[in-house]
Amino acid sequence: MSGYNQLCKYSMNDLGGQSGMEGDKVAHRILCIHGPNLNLLGMREPDVYGAVTLEEVDRRLQEYAHARGLELRVFQSNHEGAIIDAIHEAAGWADGLLVNPGAYTHYSYAIRDAIAAVKLPAVEVHLSNIHAREPFRHTSVIAPVCLGQIAGFGWHSYVLGLQALSHHLESAASSRA
Ligand code: DQA
Repeated sequence: MSGYNQLCKYSMNDLGGQSGMEGDKVAHRILCIHGPNLNLLGMREPDVYGAVTLEEVDRRLQEYAHARGLELRVFQSNHEGAIIDAIHEAAGWADGLLVNPGAYTHYSYAIRDAIAAVKLPAVEVHLSNIHAREPFRHTSVIAPVCLGQIAGFGWHSYVLGLQALSHHLESAASSRA
């Protein structure tokens, strides 16, 4: 297993210090999934996806998560089955999913079904604006089982997606209280 194929590559505690939440209480637990070829970020078509590496994307996400007291675990795989397994496992610990399924976005009914099966709230993110690209990218089979989709803002799409997911989880929790 490569470093990136491990869950918990970083956790809130890796950053040290206090979380943004009182008493280091973790507000919500989120799994961020990066699909195929996203391990090549930085060198892969930088004119489309930007020059920021995946490690840097994760570092920026962790900063945001840390400030909001979220526990964020990240997972990258180039394999559909491994992504499905991670989604199934997330049902045992996570409150929500932040997903960039890469090219699987456009045709993986299996990933779509996995998200529907675990019933975790999910936000789909893309670095590029898939709707302004080749026609095959205009369809997302994942979007119908997600709360929403954010696309076209480079690495910032991930932070916006995390923000949206965190707001959703907070309002769902406060309406239960
Ligand atoms: C992507 C868009 C997909 O169409 C593409 O296959 C990717 C990256 C994005 O983040 O813009 O791998 O998901």
